[in-house]
Amino acid sequence: QHGIAAATPVAGPRAAVIGWPVSHSRSPLIHGHWLQRYGLPGSYGRLALEPERADAFFADFAASGLSGANVTVPHKEAAARACAELDPMAATLGAANTLWLEDGRLHGANTDIVGFLANLDQEASGWDRNPGPAVVIGAGGAARAVVHGLASRGFAPVHVVNRTLERAEAVATLARAPGGTIVGRAHGFAELPGLLRTAGVIVNTTSLGMAGSPPLDIDLAPVPEGTLVTDIVYVPLETPFLAAARRRGLPTVDGLGMLLHQAVPGFERWFGRRPAVDADLRAVVLETL
Ligand code: ATR
Repeated sequence: QHGIAAATPVAGPRAAVIGWPVSHSRSPLIHGHWLQRYGLPGSYGRLALEPERADAFFADFAASGLSGANVTVPHKEAAARACAELDPMAATLGAANTLWLEDGRLHGANTDIVGFLANLDQEASGWDRNPGPAVVIGAGGAARAVVHGLASRGFAPVHVVNRTLERAEAVATLARAPGGTIVGRAHGFAELPGLLRTAGVIVNTTSLGMAGSPPLDIDLAPVPEGTLVTDIVYVPLETPFLAAARRRGLPTVDGLGMLLHQAVPGFERWFGRRPAVDADLRAVVLETL
Protein backbone atom coordinates (compact mmCIF):
# COMPACT_ATOMS: atom_id res chain seq x y z
CA GLN A 1 0.00 0.00 0.00
CA HIS A 2 2.91 2.31 0.72
CA GLY A 3 4.80 1.13 -2.33
CA ILE A 4 7.02 -1.37 -0.53
CA ALA A 5 7.01 -4.77 -2.18
CA ALA A 6 5.99 -7.34 0.40
CA ALA A 7 5.73 -10.48 -1.73
CA THR A 8 8.21 -12.49 0.33
CA PRO A 9 8.28 -11.66 4.01
CA VAL A 10 11.83 -10.75 4.98
CA ALA A 11 13.46 -11.44 8.29
CA GLY A 12 15.01 -8.66 10.28
CA PRO A 13 14.47 -4.93 10.44
CA ARG A 14 12.77 -3.14 7.54
CA ALA A 15 13.85 0.32 6.52
CA ALA A 16 13.19 2.52 3.49
CA VAL A 17 13.89 5.89 1.97
CA ILE A 18 10.84 8.14 1.91
CA GLY A 19 10.55 11.01 -0.56
CA TRP A 20 8.52 12.53 -3.40
CA PRO A 21 9.76 11.63 -5.91
CA VAL A 22 12.00 8.87 -4.62
CA SER A 23 12.79 6.76 -7.69
CA HIS A 24 16.18 8.47 -8.20
CA SER A 25 17.39 7.79 -4.65
CA ARG A 26 20.60 5.76 -4.35
CA SER A 27 19.88 4.90 -0.71
CA PRO A 28 18.40 1.43 -1.47
CA LEU A 29 21.56 0.61 -3.43
CA ILE A 30 23.83 1.76 -0.60
CA HIS A 31 21.99 -0.05 2.19
CA GLY A 32 21.37 -3.12 0.02
CA HIS A 33 25.10 -3.33 -0.69
CA TRP A 34 25.91 -3.19 3.02
CA LEU A 35 23.23 -5.74 4.00
CA GLN A 36 24.63 -8.16 1.47
CA ARG A 37 28.27 -7.50 2.29
CA TYR A 38 27.78 -8.04 6.02
CA GLY A 39 25.27 -10.88 5.58
CA LEU A 40 22.72 -9.19 7.84
CA PRO A 41 19.00 -9.96 7.92
CA GLY A 42 16.78 -7.04 6.98
CA SER A 43 15.55 -5.08 3.99
CA TYR A 44 15.70 -1.54 2.65
CA GLY A 45 13.10 -0.28 0.19
CA ARG A 46 11.72 2.95 -1.19
CA LEU A 47 8.47 4.66 -0.41
CA ALA A 48 6.93 7.43 -2.51
CA LEU A 49 4.89 9.62 -0.18
CA GLU A 50 2.65 12.38 -1.51
CA PRO A 51 3.24 15.66 0.34
CA GLU A 52 -0.47 15.84 1.36
CA ARG A 53 -0.08 12.54 3.22
CA ALA A 54 3.22 13.29 4.92
CA ASP A 55 2.03 14.62 8.29
CA ALA A 56 -0.44 11.79 8.80
CA PHE A 57 2.11 9.19 7.74
CA PHE A 58 4.86 10.34 10.10
CA ALA A 59 2.37 10.86 12.95
CA ASP A 60 1.58 7.14 12.77
CA PHE A 61 4.96 5.90 11.57
CA ALA A 62 4.68 2.67 13.57
CA ALA A 63 1.73 1.63 11.40
CA SER A 64 4.00 1.54 8.33
CA GLY A 65 5.70 -1.62 9.57
CA LEU A 66 9.10 0.03 9.16
CA SER A 67 11.64 0.04 11.98
CA GLY A 68 13.31 3.10 10.54
CA ALA A 69 13.75 5.26 7.48
CA ASN A 70 15.75 7.82 5.61
CA VAL A 71 13.81 10.89 4.64
CA THR A 72 14.56 12.98 1.60
CA VAL A 73 13.10 15.99 -0.20
CA PRO A 74 10.49 17.34 0.51
CA HIS A 75 9.72 15.52 3.77
CA LYS A 76 12.63 16.27 6.12
CA GLU A 77 10.75 19.08 7.90
CA ALA A 78 7.51 17.11 8.27
CA ALA A 79 9.48 14.17 9.66
CA ALA A 80 11.19 16.40 12.22
CA ARG A 81 7.84 17.83 13.32
CA ALA A 82 6.49 14.35 14.01
CA CYS A 83 9.43 13.12 16.09
CA ALA A 84 9.09 12.74 19.86
CA GLU A 85 12.88 13.08 20.13
CA LEU A 86 15.35 14.85 17.85
CA ASP A 87 19.13 14.87 17.98
CA PRO A 88 20.69 18.34 18.34
CA MET A 89 21.47 18.63 14.60
CA ALA A 90 17.92 17.81 13.52
CA ALA A 91 16.51 20.14 16.18
CA THR A 92 18.75 23.00 15.04
CA LEU A 93 18.03 22.51 11.34
CA GLY A 94 14.34 21.65 11.85
CA ALA A 95 14.89 18.76 9.44
CA ALA A 96 15.36 15.02 10.04
CA ASN A 97 16.77 12.61 7.45
CA THR A 98 17.08 9.52 9.65
CA LEU A 99 14.23 8.00 11.70
CA TRP A 100 13.88 5.09 14.06
CA LEU A 101 11.40 3.79 16.62
CA GLU A 102 12.51 3.44 20.20
CA ASP A 103 10.03 2.26 22.83
CA GLY A 104 7.30 3.00 20.30
CA ARG A 105 8.33 6.65 19.95
CA LEU A 106 9.67 8.19 16.78
CA HIS A 107 13.23 9.49 16.98
CA GLY A 108 14.91 11.65 14.35
CA ALA A 109 18.45 12.67 13.49
CA ASN A 110 20.07 14.78 10.82
CA THR A 111 23.12 13.02 9.41
CA ASP A 112 23.80 15.46 6.56
CA ILE A 113 26.23 17.39 8.74
CA VAL A 114 28.23 14.36 9.87
CA GLY A 115 28.07 13.06 6.30
CA PHE A 116 29.57 16.27 4.95
CA LEU A 117 32.29 16.36 7.61
CA ALA A 118 33.12 12.62 7.53
CA ASN A 119 33.59 12.79 3.76
CA LEU A 120 36.16 15.58 4.05
CA ASP A 121 37.85 13.85 7.02
CA GLN A 122 38.24 10.71 4.91
CA GLU A 123 39.11 12.28 1.54
CA ALA A 124 41.13 15.30 2.69
CA SER A 125 42.52 14.33 6.07
CA GLY A 126 43.70 17.37 8.04
CA TRP A 127 41.50 19.73 6.01
CA ASP A 128 40.32 21.48 9.20
CA ARG A 129 43.70 21.74 10.92
CA ASN A 130 43.87 25.54 10.53
CA PRO A 131 40.27 26.60 10.13
CA GLY A 132 39.97 30.10 8.68
CA PRO A 133 37.30 31.77 6.60
CA ALA A 134 34.97 29.49 4.64
CA VAL A 135 32.89 30.33 1.57
CA VAL A 136 29.59 28.49 1.09
CA ILE A 137 27.77 29.09 -2.18
CA GLY A 138 23.99 28.68 -1.97
CA ALA A 139 21.45 28.91 0.84
CA GLY A 140 19.09 25.93 0.45
CA GLY A 141 18.63 22.85 2.62
CA ALA A 142 22.10 21.49 1.93
CA ALA A 143 23.72 24.83 2.78
CA ARG A 144 22.11 24.74 6.21
CA ALA A 145 23.91 21.51 7.09
CA VAL A 146 27.19 22.64 5.53
CA VAL A 147 27.44 26.01 7.32
CA HIS A 148 26.53 24.39 10.63
CA GLY A 149 29.21 21.74 10.12
CA LEU A 150 31.95 24.18 9.10
CA ALA A 151 31.28 26.48 12.06
CA SER A 152 31.30 23.49 14.44
CA ARG A 153 34.84 22.70 13.22
CA GLY A 154 36.03 26.23 13.96
CA PHE A 155 35.79 27.85 10.52
CA ALA A 156 35.08 31.58 10.87
CA PRO A 157 33.73 33.64 9.37
CA VAL A 158 31.49 31.34 7.33
CA HIS A 159 30.53 33.45 4.31
CA VAL A 160 27.21 32.45 2.75
CA VAL A 161 26.97 33.68 -0.85
CA ASN A 162 23.59 33.44 -2.51
CA ARG A 163 21.56 34.89 -5.38
CA THR A 164 18.73 35.72 -2.94
CA LEU A 165 20.25 37.65 -0.05
CA GLU A 166 17.39 37.05 2.41
CA ARG A 167 17.95 33.30 2.20
CA ALA A 168 21.68 33.79 2.80
CA GLU A 169 20.87 35.83 5.90
CA ALA A 170 18.64 33.10 7.31
CA VAL A 171 21.25 30.39 6.69
CA ALA A 172 24.11 32.50 8.10
CA THR A 173 22.49 32.46 11.56
CA LEU A 174 22.97 28.67 11.63
CA ALA A 175 26.77 29.07 11.55
CA ARG A 176 27.66 29.07 15.23
CA ALA A 177 31.11 28.66 16.72
CA PRO A 178 31.47 25.93 19.38
CA GLY A 179 30.94 28.69 21.99
CA GLY A 180 27.63 29.73 20.37
CA THR A 181 28.70 32.97 18.63
CA ILE A 182 27.17 33.43 15.19
CA VAL A 183 30.04 33.40 12.69
CA GLY A 184 27.91 33.31 9.50
CA ARG A 185 27.91 36.32 7.15
CA ALA A 186 25.51 36.80 4.24
CA HIS A 187 26.62 38.10 0.83
CA GLY A 188 25.51 38.52 -2.76
CA PHE A 189 27.56 37.15 -5.66
CA ALA A 190 29.10 40.59 -6.33
CA GLU A 191 31.21 40.19 -3.18
CA LEU A 192 32.53 36.76 -4.13
CA PRO A 193 35.92 37.76 -5.66
CA GLY A 194 36.96 39.50 -2.43
CA LEU A 195 35.78 36.64 -0.25
CA LEU A 196 37.64 34.05 -2.33
CA ARG A 197 40.96 35.80 -1.58
CA THR A 198 40.97 34.60 2.05
CA ALA A 199 38.97 31.38 1.74
CA GLY A 200 40.37 28.25 3.40
CA VAL A 201 37.57 26.07 2.06
CA ILE A 202 34.96 26.64 -0.65
CA VAL A 203 31.74 24.60 -0.92
CA ASN A 204 29.13 24.64 -3.66
CA THR A 205 25.74 23.71 -2.19
CA THR A 206 23.63 24.90 -5.15
CA SER A 207 22.30 22.64 -7.85
CA LEU A 208 24.43 24.50 -10.40
CA GLY A 209 26.73 22.08 -12.21
CA MET A 210 24.32 19.17 -11.90
CA ALA A 211 23.61 17.35 -15.15
CA GLY A 212 20.91 19.41 -16.90
CA SER A 213 21.64 22.61 -14.93
CA PRO A 214 23.93 25.46 -15.93
CA PRO A 215 27.45 25.30 -14.44
CA LEU A 216 28.55 27.27 -11.40
CA ASP A 217 30.84 29.63 -13.27
CA ILE A 218 33.07 31.58 -10.92
CA ASP A 219 36.62 32.83 -11.40
CA LEU A 220 38.91 30.92 -9.03
CA ALA A 221 41.99 33.04 -9.83
CA PRO A 222 41.92 34.90 -6.44
CA VAL A 223 41.80 31.67 -4.37
CA PRO A 224 44.93 31.02 -2.24
CA GLU A 225 47.06 27.93 -2.91
CA GLY A 226 45.95 24.86 -0.98
CA THR A 227 42.34 25.95 -0.49
CA LEU A 228 40.04 22.92 -0.50
CA VAL A 229 37.20 23.04 -3.01
CA THR A 230 34.22 20.71 -2.66
CA ASP A 231 30.81 20.30 -4.23
CA ILE A 232 27.68 18.59 -2.98
CA VAL A 233 26.64 17.81 -6.57
CA TYR A 234 27.72 14.26 -7.57
CA VAL A 235 26.06 13.88 -10.98
CA PRO A 236 28.45 14.31 -12.70
CA LEU A 237 31.15 13.37 -10.23
CA GLU A 238 33.45 16.02 -11.65
CA THR A 239 31.34 19.16 -11.99
CA PRO A 240 32.59 22.03 -14.15
CA PHE A 241 33.32 23.87 -10.87
CA LEU A 242 35.54 21.05 -9.53
CA ALA A 243 37.20 20.71 -12.93
CA ALA A 244 38.05 24.43 -12.87
CA ALA A 245 39.45 24.08 -9.33
CA ARG A 246 41.62 21.17 -10.44
CA ARG A 247 42.93 23.13 -13.41
CA ARG A 248 43.75 25.92 -10.98
CA GLY A 249 45.82 23.37 -8.96
CA LEU A 250 43.52 23.32 -5.91
CA PRO A 251 42.67 20.16 -3.92
CA THR A 252 39.11 18.97 -4.57
CA VAL A 253 36.65 16.51 -3.03
CA ASP A 254 33.54 15.41 -4.94
CA GLY A 255 30.04 15.16 -3.49
CA LEU A 256 29.47 11.41 -3.67
CA GLY A 257 31.16 10.77 -0.32
CA MET A 258 28.69 13.00 1.55
CA LEU A 259 25.83 10.87 0.22
CA LEU A 260 27.58 7.67 1.30
CA HIS A 261 28.63 8.91 4.73
CA GLN A 262 25.22 10.33 5.65
CA ALA A 263 23.85 6.78 5.32
CA VAL A 264 26.20 5.32 7.96
CA PRO A 265 24.40 6.30 11.21
CA GLY A 266 21.03 4.98 10.02
CA PHE A 267 22.41 1.63 8.87
CA GLU A 268 24.23 1.18 12.17
CA ARG A 269 21.11 1.96 14.17
CA TRP A 270 18.67 -0.23 12.19
CA PHE A 271 20.89 -3.18 11.36
CA GLY A 272 23.39 -3.11 14.23
CA ARG A 273 26.69 -2.81 12.44
CA ARG A 274 28.77 0.24 11.53
CA PRO A 275 29.34 -0.04 7.75
CA ALA A 276 32.43 1.06 5.83
CA VAL A 277 32.45 3.75 3.16
CA ASP A 278 35.13 2.41 0.84
CA ALA A 279 36.10 2.01 -2.81
CA ASP A 280 33.75 -0.99 -3.28
CA LEU A 281 30.72 1.03 -2.21
CA ARG A 282 31.77 4.00 -4.32
CA ALA A 283 32.14 1.75 -7.35
CA VAL A 284 28.69 0.23 -6.86
CA VAL A 285 27.03 3.65 -6.71
CA LEU A 286 29.20 5.18 -9.45
CA GLU A 287 28.03 2.52 -11.89
CA THR A 288 24.51 3.96 -11.65
CA LEU A 289 25.38 7.66 -12.06
P1 ATR B 1 18.60 22.27 -1.62
O1 ATR B 1 17.63 22.21 -0.49
O2 ATR B 1 18.82 20.98 -2.31
O3 ATR B 1 19.90 22.93 -1.25
P2 ATR B 1 17.18 24.55 -2.75
O4 ATR B 1 16.56 24.89 -1.46
O5 ATR B 1 16.31 24.55 -3.96
O6 ATR B 1 17.89 23.15 -2.77
O7 ATR B 1 18.41 25.55 -2.98
C1 ATR B 1 19.02 25.69 -4.19
C2 ATR B 1 20.16 26.70 -4.10
O8 ATR B 1 20.70 26.85 -5.41
C3 ATR B 1 19.72 28.06 -3.66
O9 ATR B 1 20.78 28.68 -2.96
C4 ATR B 1 19.47 28.79 -4.99
O10 ATR B 1 19.57 30.18 -4.93
P3 ATR B 1 18.29 31.08 -4.48
O11 ATR B 1 18.15 30.94 -3.00
O12 ATR B 1 18.62 32.47 -4.89
O13 ATR B 1 17.12 30.50 -5.23
C5 ATR B 1 20.61 28.22 -5.80
N1 ATR B 1 20.38 28.30 -7.23
C6 ATR B 1 19.62 27.49 -8.00
N2 ATR B 1 19.65 27.87 -9.28
C7 ATR B 1 20.45 28.97 -9.35
C8 ATR B 1 20.90 29.84 -10.41
N3 ATR B 1 20.53 29.63 -11.68
N4 ATR B 1 21.74 30.85 -10.10
C9 ATR B 1 22.14 31.04 -8.81
N5 ATR B 1 21.75 30.28 -7.77
C10 ATR B 1 20.92 29.25 -8.04
